[in-house]
Amino acid sequence: MTVMSQPHEVRRQEMADRLIGGSMRRSYNSAIDIDWDAPQDPDLFYLPPETISLYGTPLWEQMTHAQRVELSRQEAANMLSRAVWFENTLNQGLLRAMLYQDPTSRNVHYALTEIGDETRHMIMFGRTVSAIGARPYRLSKLEAWTVQRLPSLYKGLLLWGAALCGEELLDDLQRKYARHPDLQPIMQQVMRIHVAEEARHIRYAREGVLRRLAHSRWYERRLARELNGIAAFVLRRIFYDKEVYRRCGLDVGEAMRQARANEPVNAIRRESFRGLYEFFEDIGMMGRFSRRMWRRYGFLE
Ligand SMILES: [Fe+2]
Ligand SMILES: [Fe+2]
Repeated sequence: MTVMSQPHEVRRQEMADRLIGGSMRRSYNSAIDIDWDAPQDPDLFYLPPETISLYGTPLWEQMTHAQRVELSRQEAANMLSRAVWFENTLNQGLLRAMLYQDPTSRNVHYALTEIGDETRHMIMFGRTVSAIGARPYRLSKLEAWTVQRLPSLYKGLLLWGAALCGEELLDDLQRKYARHPDLQPIMQQVMRIHVAEEARHIRYAREGVLRRLAHSRWYERRLARELNGIAAFVLRRIFYDKEVYRRCGLDVGEAMRQARANEPVNAIRRESFRGLYEFFEDIGMMGRFSRRMWRRYGFLE
């Protein structure tokens, strides 16, 4: 039997074909699909207030409305900046895998289409940071060095698992952001575009996880099961971070303590993780170490 005649390979190519069709019908170009010059209302939040790390805490109660809006702007800029490097590493993972794959396959063509989506997202996120009047959150040299190592870890199940951890959890939150009535319109537009295009990536990554699970060696499954919890460490910093509080002129230690203990906001994050957590549990992809990490960084009770 040739590789292509195996049923799972046929299904994979058919799915890639469908996803390429979807990309052709529904893709966006932020250069024309976002109104970059529209005026921004200084009273509107850049993230829904109830999702902001300090919402409802004693520190929040002491802040003026303008300070709260500024915190939402900084948290949005932090999230967008980190999303840029995360998408960078996933693209590198896909490109590296491609060196071993058949360039005529539809699967490779879809991976290239997805890389195209992600490069457009990186432009969109970078442009949004400057459009909302913030400075980007850049990686330190040591962080960049560490992040540079990630694509060499992204192989097989680990690549698909990492993609899902980044994409599914943020997707759930971004759907809430996109629908929120009191958000800056520019943030709603960005989130709507991202949610629409990421839906394809999530389908592709879920299929990738299931396919690799069926054809991987025990040690690959073991690694993916135990290492997906590292994503919790990375993702926590998307939601609250010392540098954000420093830029807002807050007492950093106190802000970190109050954010960590902010149960209603933590509950929103846990809810966003639930779908992925259940998926991982169902397919045996949640190991003890990972579960501990997800719990430690506030994504599990
Ligand atoms: Fe993206
Ligand atoms: Fe994506």
